[in-house]
Amino acid sequence: MSHDTTRLNRERNHFAGHEAIWLFGYGSLIWKAGFPYLERRPAHIHGWVRRFWQGSHDHRGTQAAPGRVATLVREPEAVCHGMAYRITPEVLAPLDVREKNGYLREVTTLCFDDELGGSTQGLVYLAGADNAAYLGEAPLDAIAEQIAASHGPSGPNRDYLVNLAAALRELEVEDEHVFALAARLPPAD
Ligand code: SIN
Repeated sequence: MSHDTTRLNRERNHFAGHEAIWLFGYGSLIWKAGFPYLERRPAHIHGWVRRFWQGSHDHRGTQAAPGRVATLVREPEAVCHGMAYRITPEVLAPLDVREKNGYLREVTTLCFDDELGGSTQGLVYLAGADNAAYLGEAPLDAIAEQIAASHGPSGPNRDYLVNLAAALRELEVEDEHVFALAARLPPAD
């Protein structure tokens, strides 16, 4: 698979004809929407864990020195909490570009965490183990070291991790992996 998934995603028209689509965000899409949305509600999905196993050559690193960002990894009993956005279909085109480094639009069932509750089908951008930018598992110390050292067009890789950890704390979500990585970052310069 090439690094750039933009074209592949344009063909993944899972909700063609719908006036609005729910999108589940679990990484930068939690703390940096950067796109217009109709509604925003905390939510979770079943069967996935958040892991810093995806390489970032375009946002938080470079081709020569990729950073690490979040993707989802299958774990049948797990629950991954994040933020759901109700968007109009035209919002997907710029999102496809933002998520082009290996992420594919996938359909998921998302369950809302607010007092209204309920569940619905929606989209999630998922970078699977078969994508060209996938870095995979590594010791937490090594991942934290790579994040601390990386920098890309969107800024320091550490900001991605620190902002995600802060957003999860605000949502009162426990995420051992993210918090363990954030705790390993050396102090900022
Ligand atoms: C997401 O946040 O849902 C996808 C990964 C990212 O953009 O960080």
